[in-house]
Amino acid sequence: MAVADGVHWIGALDPTLRTFDIVLRTANGTSYNAYAVRGSHGVAVVDTVKESFSGEFFRRLEAVADYDEITAIVLNHLEPDHSGALPELLRRAPRAHVYLSVKAPLMFKALLKPTDAVPKGFTLVNTGDRVDLGGRHLRFLHTPFLHWPDTQCTYLEEEGLLFSCDVFGCHFCDARLFNDRVGDFRFSFEYYYAHIMRPFREHVAKALDLIEPLDLATIAPAHGPILRHAPRDYVRRYRELSGRRLINEAAGERTLLVFYLSAYGSTRRMAEAVAAGAEEVPGVRVSLYDLEGGEAAPFVDLVEEADGLAFGSPTINGDAAKPVWDLLSSLSAVNVQRKLGAAFGSYGWSGEAVDLIEHRLRGLKFRVPFEGLRAKLTPTEAELSGCRELGQRLARHLVTPDALLAEAA
Ligand code: FEO
Repeated sequence: MAVADGVHWIGALDPTLRTFDIVLRTANGTSYNAYAVRGSHGVAVVDTVKESFSGEFFRRLEAVADYDEITAIVLNHLEPDHSGALPELLRRAPRAHVYLSVKAPLMFKALLKPTDAVPKGFTLVNTGDRVDLGGRHLRFLHTPFLHWPDTQCTYLEEEGLLFSCDVFGCHFCDARLFNDRVGDFRFSFEYYYAHIMRPFREHVAKALDLIEPLDLATIAPAHGPILRHAPRDYVRRYRELSGRRLINEAAGERTLLVFYLSAYGSTRRMAEAVAAGAEEVPGVRVSLYDLEGGEAAPFVDLVEEADGLAFGSPTINGDAAKPVWDLLSSLSAVNVQRKLGAAFGSYGWSGEAVDLIEHRLRGLKFRVPFEGLRAKLTPTEAELSGCRELGQRLARHLVTPDALLAEAA
């Protein structure tokens, strides 16, 4: 399938896949997109396919090039869905020189087994580096963490064609290949961004800084439709998705979310006291949410934008209540590193919930500088006062990050 003059899609279709990487749902499968680019000096292969689809890949490659013509193999990303056919390609194309990102060599060496063919040579490339194929120039864009450290994009200058790897991709299988011919894949594009790219949105923004200035005729991602119609719409959508989501915050305002569950009202009273204490600190917007009232998913956007979070749960059978875990397990889709976290809760017998929540918060790389608070059965006035103080300390720490050091001094 020709994508542009001298550029062919040589990937594979996987229409029966219903779950990708164990966790991602796929309504109609996916594709593993790989490409061949012909110049007057040779042919470049951009990415390969999942190993079990190697036969399809090699058949398509052989239809457009001889192995001896392949002078370059560009690896935009080494995850097995794109590098599975690489060892065999290296064996079949002995003249090929490999180009991969500066972040990729350790993974590259780990990928090749001792019995695999050793490439003729490999070059680590960074933003602005180019390969001349003869009248065709590939230029590299360093776009790490989209979504692996090694991810890069490759731009074919003469065609305005961006091989974008997983970026702008989606799990949507349609043999018609091009976005102006396939079925409606908007849901899949959004779902893919939300689950693959969203945790790395700061890196998405940096990558867009490199991509937006390009003259873009086509975006050729590694999964899903090739975006030849209105490619900039997809770039704009990534820019929107990678920006801040909440629009009602005053400039410089900090946000603290207090989540709780309460069986008999004790943890609720503690939560209200934490929120009331935080409210006393100017410059912090405090929100209080009862997790019994809804699903975890709607809160994920709020958590992504929040600066601090406090979680209150009673201890039930030696554990925190399930809705708290539901919310905490939903946070792998967003970047919560370095956010401020705290835990509190009432208990009847043993009170493990607070420790368990703190442990999970630390596992998610929250900062948890303040010891969690527990109240046996009904909180006393002194314990509620402690909750107000916890709220104040959290809020002060948000508006003045070195407040904790000042307190310690
Ligand atoms: Fe499609 Fe990150 O591999």
